[in-house]
Parts: sequence; structure tokens; C-alpha cells
Amino acid sequence: MICFSPKDNAFLLSGKQYSYCMYVNGAGFLQHLYYGKKLVPEDIPVLIAAHGKASEPNLNDRDMDMYTSDMPSECGSFGRGDFRSATVIVGREDGAAMSSFRYVSHLIVKGALALPGMPCARRADESLIITLRDSCSDTQVDLNYSVSEDSDILVRSLTVRNVGKQTYEIKKAFSFCTDFPDTCGTYSAMRLSGAWARERAPVTAPLAEGTLRIESTRGYSSHQMNPFLALLSEGCQEESGECYGFALLYSGSFAITAEVTHNRYIRVQGGINDYLFGWQLKGGESFSTPQAALCYSSEGLGGMSRAYHDFFRAYIIDPKRARMRRPVVINNWEATYFDFDNENLFAIIDEAAKLGIDTFVLDDGWFGKRDNDTAGLGDWFVNENKLKGGLKAVIGRCKQNGLKFGLWFEPEMVSEDSNLFRAHPDWAIAKAGVSPCRSRSQLVLDFTRKEVVDYIFEAVSKVLSENDISYVKWDKNRDITENFSASLPQDRQGEFLHRYTLGFYDLAQRLTSAFPNVLFEGCAGGGGRFDGGALYYFPQIWTSDDTDGLERTKIQWGTSMCYPLSSMSCHVSACPNHQTHRTTPFATRGAVASLGATGYELDLTKLSDEEKEQVKAQINNYKRIDELVLKGDLYRLSDPFKGNYFCEMVVSKDKREAYLVGERFRGDPCDHNRVLKLQGLSEDKTYYIEELRLAASGAALMGAGVLYPRLADCGSWTWHIREKDNV
Ligand code: GLA
Repeated sequence: MICFSPKDNAFLLSGKQYSYCMYVNGAGFLQHLYYGKKLVPEDIPVLIAAHGKASEPNLNDRDMDMYTSDMPSECGSFGRGDFRSATVIVGREDGAAMSSFRYVSHLIVKGALALPGMPCARRADESLIITLRDSCSDTQVDLNYSVSEDSDILVRSLTVRNVGKQTYEIKKAFSFCTDFPDTCGTYSAMRLSGAWARERAPVTAPLAEGTLRIESTRGYSSHQMNPFLALLSEGCQEESGECYGFALLYSGSFAITAEVTHNRYIRVQGGINDYLFGWQLKGGESFSTPQAALCYSSEGLGGMSRAYHDFFRAYIIDPKRARMRRPVVINNWEATYFDFDNENLFAIIDEAAKLGIDTFVLDDGWFGKRDNDTAGLGDWFVNENKLKGGLKAVIGRCKQNGLKFGLWFEPEMVSEDSNLFRAHPDWAIAKAGVSPCRSRSQLVLDFTRKEVVDYIFEAVSKVLSENDISYVKWDKNRDITENFSASLPQDRQGEFLHRYTLGFYDLAQRLTSAFPNVLFEGCAGGGGRFDGGALYYFPQIWTSDDTDGLERTKIQWGTSMCYPLSSMSCHVSACPNHQTHRTTPFATRGAVASLGATGYELDLTKLSDEEKEQVKAQINNYKRIDELVLKGDLYRLSDPFKGNYFCEMVVSKDKREAYLVGERFRGDPCDHNRVLKLQGLSEDKTYYIEELRLAASGAALMGAGVLYPRLADCGSWTWHIREKDNV
């Protein structure tokens, strides 16, 4: 609900359990008042009295702008006395860039706000657009807010408009600014940082005076830092205390900053990375930022995660796919790498069918001269020397076996040893006279150029329309370097990285609309582009190249801070694991992989009979619980970063059913009789845990708990829990 109180000149925005409040103060600035537990419009005067008046600039003072540094603001300005970092900075032709944004008008509309060319919340109950005018230039800023009754996510973005005649350069335009004026206690910030094969590890550290900045400068959201930050109030735990989440719905280079000022106010803001950013805005033009999804939780990190999971499933991911059962796939990458032919693929397909797998996914190496990673990218036509009879032969074999077929592409890349590069060397990102940085021996196509995106659209479309393909794995295996396009003039090179991201979104939008029956899975050298923007096009994303049964618990735990289980693609791979060289039990790999869109990534023909029986059992189990994984509420019980156990459970919305997966990392003779308290159940219901043959009330299972199973190294357990009369 969005409420405007004319008497107070205030806006109260509310969702399921939160409210967000701001008002136009006496000086005409849009001042932030409150973000927290749900309030009612009658509370506005209290908020103004408690948080407003004291921080208003002194109206009688002609140096008024000088005092805005203490004013909690909805859009930080520059060069007029607010010395915190600005939200929007616009440079003029003479080089001046100061700003002072004051309220002009507002509009409340039904529904969501469209964001052409970029991913955005697909729906909302209501949206608010507040227009501010810069008193130092001919620029206006629209602050956009969208809310929904059934969601704890507040969606924000902004639009900068040039309402004058001269050309401006936007030097910075973040998506949101949220000031926290009431921070007497200490706050901590949690980021999700990592690396290839170690994505999204939660790292929490107290905030102190100064600025915490998390960012990617790699041209995509990156393995190293996810576009997500949480602010934790003192004492915030997994299931208690207050916290705030800030997630960008953006896949390009980003920055999120948390700035603690001299008076311990905190300003959190973020958006497109402003490092060397610039965007030319001619008279009459406007520029829209990506959206950000903000969340307030009074139920700790778990409450925040569940709110984000509901949001991504209901507002961002394609509604046709979000809750749709996912195919159980067999992917040939770790089984064969580039070394495959009809014979070894057919053997895997035949075996897959016997084990109950739904879809065979042919990974890298099927096209051009792609016998290793030095050649072929960009040549999206089948290598018939390698695959006799082409894709049709492989698809035919799948069909004979009742399997569907999926295919790997890396649409944004080109190998120098490819027909595409030989025909269009200028299509790769490079600067004449500078040897381009190579990574995995490949270059990145210049997606700021429409003709390049058009060509790739046609090439990929041809393969998809000529073959019966139900699944695409869209990979991206390197960072962007050089940050230069020969097609952009000198004074627009600062637009390069954002334009690249818009090119990626353009291709993703066109391909997913042209092939609505294809499930597109995102991937970027594992989980390097796992963000709210990518999820708009890809209902699931390859979580990490690290499929080790122990490491994956950490990666999936961290990823779940913001993203739903249904978005994590999780496979069982061979042991010793190809990344860590560790051997974990087959059952454990299956249990961990069942907490996502599951599949296999190994040579099925090399499995023992016992392992094959395990695959069948795992798939049967998965088909029992996949609805819970897709739609349920996640409770994280044992943190793999902190102790000897990993444990998570998903509970159905009606609390009648739950599924729990646990792993014990080390068999330790002294680590026994530990109690595991379940969560998310209904206290009043009686439940039956199938594997334990135990019936108990929700109150007992959550309050008293049960014992952790005693297991050897990396042993795992799965429990199916049902309400007793539901058994
Ligand atoms: C990336 C992906 C892998 C695989 C390879 C193929 O590393 O993450 O799953 O597809 O590329 O080259």
C-alpha cells in the first residue's frame, strides 16, 4: 500500500510486514524517515517528530544546503554541503556538477513500472514516482518505488532526465539510496564474496566510520562479489533480529556502498558501478537505472532469505518456469570434456534412460573446430566430423530413449581461431594497437554493437529452430577487459560496460521470447553471473563448477542468502572430485544436489551397479520432493562455515510437509549427542519423520529437537517429514 498524507507531506509505503516512510521537509528536500516494522498512516507524525525535525536543515539559515549532510535523504546530492557520496552526479558542459534535489511532484500508479531493455519486477500492486528537480541544473530525477501486499520486497530505481538544452554527462546514477538515521547501535554488513569454484561465501564484518564498498569491475556481476549486501542490526541471528537486504537486479559491473558518517548515520546505496562510468544525456533524453530489491526482516537472515526467495519466484523468474518441475539432466562435460563422439555420447544417453533421467545436455565442443578451448567459439554450427549425422543423430538417440535434449552455447564469446573472427575481427572487444587480454584463449564479442547481437541471435536461433531442443545452457567464461568499443565516440566510452550489459539483456530477451518452450539455464564459468537480473531470463543458473559434496554445501548455503533453491542448478559428479580431488559418498553428493534443480555430470557408463541403483533411488526421491524445493520455505539449520555440520530444511507453505538434508563433515568421536532443532514447522501439528520412524509434535521437534546422526566423514542424511494425518 502506498499512502500519501498531504497534511504531513509524507509517503508511507507498506508491504507484507514492513513500512518505509519519507516526507518533504520544510526546505523542500525529500527526507527519509523510517524503514522497519509495519506501521499505519496515523504513525507518520511520530516518525516526523522522532526522525524528521531534528535532522532538517535550518530553514532560517541562508546557508541551508550546507546542513544537508545530517539529513537522511532519498537521493544524495553533490557539492552543496552533503559530503556523503552522492546518488546522482551530472556534469555540465562547463564542468560543473553540483546538485540539490528538491521535491516537485509525485504520482501513484497501479501496477509495476516497466523498464525497457532491462530486467524488472514483472508485477507490483502499486508504484510511486517522486520527481525531484535539481536547483543547480536542468535535470530532474524520478525516484521509483513499487510495493505489493504479499511481498516484503520494496523495488526501487531512478530515472535522470535532462529537461534543458545542453548535453550533460551522468557520472554516477545509482539505483537507490537509503539512509538509516537511527543507528545508535552497531551494524554489521554481510557480503557474498568468493572466487571461481568458491562462489558466494557470506562474510560479515562490523561497520565503522568510513565506507564499505563492494563491487565488480569485470563487466558482469562476478564470482568474486555478488550484487547483494545485507545490513545486520546488533544481535541479528539466523532466525531472529532485524536485518535489511539490498539486491541489485543487474548483471553488469556494480557497486554497493555502506557509508557510516561522523554522526553514525548509515547511507546504503548502489547500482551501476560509477568507476569510469559516464553516460551522455542530450536535451530531452532520460536514463533509467537498473532496479534494486530492498528487504526488511525482523526474523533474522532466514526471514530475509525467504522474502527474497518468494520475490524472485513470484516477481522476477518467468512465471511459466518459476514453479515448474525441472528436468533431471545428465550433462556430458565432466564425463567427456571435449573428447566425445557418437559412440560415447550414445552410451551415456542409453544408460541415462535406464536410470530415469529426463534430459541429455550436450556441453561444450559440439560446434566449429572446437576440439579444445582454443578454437571455435562463435561458429554455432555442428562439427559433423565429430558428431556423425550432426545434432539430429544425437537428438534421435535421445528420442529413441524417451529423453529430451539440451545444448550448450557461449553466445557472447569468440575464438580468434574461428570463421566468425576471421570474417569480423573488429567484432571482438579490442583496441587497435593494443594486444587484447586473452582469457581461456578467447575474446569477448562487442555486444554494445547491435549488428553483433543480431548476428548471434540469428546463429543461435537457426540451431534452436532446426533442432528439437528443450534446454539451453548459456555460458560465459571470462571477464571483460579493454573496456573499449571502436563504435563509440571518445566521449561515450564511459557507457561501454553498461551498453554491453544491455546487449546481453537484448539477446537474452529476444532468444527467450523467440523460444518460449526452451528452458534457458544461465552459467558463467560456474556461478559467475548469479544475480537478480540474470534470473529474469534464466529460471536456473549453474551454481558453481565445484560440485564437491562438501564444498557445495557452503556454496549453496551462501547462494541461498538471497536466491531460491529453485534457481540453483546442482549436479552429482564423479569422485575423486575434479576440482577438489576429494572423495565423498555418492549418497552425499545426491543429497546435496537434491536441494536445487538436480542432475548428473559424470560418465554414467562407468558407475557400478550399486551406484546405478543409487541414481535411480535419488531420482525417485527427487520426484517426491521437487515441489518442496521449488515452492517451499527454506530454513538453514547448521552453518557449514561454522561447525561440523550442514543442515537445511524446506517446509511447504501449509506446513504439512518438509524435507531435510544434512551432512556431517568429520567423523569425530567427541562430537556426539548434539541436538538438532528443526524449524519452520507448526507447533500444534504432529509430524512423522519417515527415516527415524518417529512421531512428535512440531513444538517438540523445534523446541527439544532430535539427535544429529553419527556419521563418518562427509556422511549425509535426508529426512522426509509429514504431518501425521498426511502420512
Ligand atoms: C564452464 C562451465 C562448465 C562447462 C565449461 C565448458 O566452465 O561452468 O560447466 O560448461 O564451461 O567449457
